[in-house]
Amino acid sequence: MVPDMTAPIPFPSIPTFQVPPHPVWPDLSAADLETLKNRIKQMLKEQNGVLVAHYYTDGSLQDLAEETGGCVADSLEMARFGTNHDAETLVVAGVRFMGETAKILNNEKRVVMPDLAATCSLDEGCPHKLFSSFCDQYPDHTVVVYANTSAEVKARSDWVVTSGIALQIIRHLAGKKEKILWGPDKHLGRYVQKLTGADMIFWPGSCVVHEEFRSVALDRLRKLHPEAAVLVHPESREEVIEQADIVGSTTALIQAVTTLPNREFIVATDAGIFNKMKQLAPEKILLEAPTVGEGATCHSCANCPWMGMNSLQNLAEVLTNKINEIRVSPELAARAQIPIRRMLDFAKTMKK
Ligand code: 13P
Ligand code: SF4
Repeated sequence: MVPDMTAPIPFPSIPTFQVPPHPVWPDLSAADLETLKNRIKQMLKEQNGVLVAHYYTDGSLQDLAEETGGCVADSLEMARFGTNHDAETLVVAGVRFMGETAKILNNEKRVVMPDLAATCSLDEGCPHKLFSSFCDQYPDHTVVVYANTSAEVKARSDWVVTSGIALQIIRHLAGKKEKILWGPDKHLGRYVQKLTGADMIFWPGSCVVHEEFRSVALDRLRKLHPEAAVLVHPESREEVIEQADIVGSTTALIQAVTTLPNREFIVATDAGIFNKMKQLAPEKILLEAPTVGEGATCHSCANCPWMGMNSLQNLAEVLTNKINEIRVSPELAARAQIPIRRMLDFAKTMKK
């Protein structure tokens, strides 16, 4: 029998996964903290290692990364930094896709993470076999995936993007009239579609942290602080994005705090970002966008539980015991790095 080509293609349903509680790390005395930091600094030197931390990790890790010549950055810059540094060991404080991206791009290097179980709801909600069969149903579409995915999902894609460059890349592809299959973050996908008019279909994934921001409560807070600029990460819901003065990657939101004339800011992204914002603009007043209200109860309360799995304590353990190495086979890395390098090369053309 001839298959009915007009029948709708079943939309994938996201597998269920566990969101862990936010880890609680024991407080250290100032003296113990100093000793621990010195031990880590020593081991980084001995192992020719460099610490690369995301803006959502604990402030102590961010500060240590900068003090030791590493970097604190968004996911795009974290990927770039590893490829430009000659350290033999990349210590990635963040979530698993960040460590994997570092390993994919630097397969000869040792890449370690404080906790290999630090994943991401976008990655968990996009298993590669399911995603791959979804893609197989749309052979005429260019597959664009967010960096918050596994190495296998990246290997199945044509382009990898981060929030810092998604808009520009989709605009570029839309200009060439390409049809786009986008995964996994539906909110970021819809946001870039709205701005570019691109022909896109979406994998229905989302970030459990950013989805908790509430539009009604945000609207109320804005009314209480009419002079505040609203900064929103594009993984948030559409009705939250609609209230933003600035929508952008973690780097873009930090830049907004330093460059906009406003004294007050309402920030809709993970609370870890306040560390850098306060450092760069101590005179500004930073308010957390609400994650409760109108019947909603926050689970993460703007603190990604997986980012919270990174601490000075487990970082020291990893370096002491030489454990938690990220492994990606050279064959998989060779395939997954093609769409990542496409993004990095595109980023270079933008800088000119
Ligand atoms: P950025 O690329 O903006 O740093 O975002 C990464 C991320 O996981 C946001 O939730
Ligand atoms: Fe993933 Fe959301 Fe955590 Fe970012 S904040 S790592 S997108 S779960």
